[in-house]
Amino acid sequence: MIAEQIKKAIRDIPDFPKPGIVFKDITPILKEPALCDNIIAAFVEQLKGTRIDVIAGIESRGFLFGLTLATKLGIPFVPIRKAGKLPYTIKRKAYKLEYGEAVIECHTDAFEPGQHILIHDDLLATGGTVTAASELIQEMGGIVAGFSFVVELGFLKGRERIAPISDTLVVLAE
Ligand code: PRP
Ligand code: ADE
Repeated sequence: MIAEQIKKAIRDIPDFPKPGIVFKDITPILKEPALCDNIIAAFVEQLKGTRIDVIAGIESRGFLFGLTLATKLGIPFVPIRKAGKLPYTIKRKAYKLEYGEAVIECHTDAFEPGQHILIHDDLLATGGTVTAASELIQEMGGIVAGFSFVVELGFLKGRERIAPISDTLVVLAE
């Protein structure tokens, strides 16, 4: 089962990037091409029936499966990046993380108003990042089609935070 394969591959790194945080390191997944294929197939299967025009992936780990998934679905991928990285005109949003604060930005021509945008990231923790991404997308006229994550840290209750934004939530491992 995909959830078991993912959980087996992820390794816990205590006290990274700060004391008290147990960091979920997904890099071992990337060394297993068959598992990466299975992850994309599981997303495709679980997103069947959902209108998605564009996938927005969150820097940096949201780029890993976000682009592959968009390519598999035959739709555009847009990067949502940390401050100062995108070269064209941008919209920005500040937010809080489990272990700090950050700003995300999106190109103003990333998608058309009225398009349905799936927000993709590797991991759902507090939900602060994807809530900020949702606000950014909505302020730009996009409709949040839903969220997809490889893994969720359930104890941080991110899913409760994002539930009012969209009913569509795909999490492959908890
Ligand atoms: C991590 C992770 C998510 C976010 C989840 O990214 O990849 O984007 O934190 O946390 P939240 O649900 O509490 O907002 P991070 O900001 O560490 O950046 P990285 O992907 O570049 O490592
Ligand atoms: N993003 C937020 N919290 C995280 C954690 N504990 N491990 C990996 N990524 C994270």
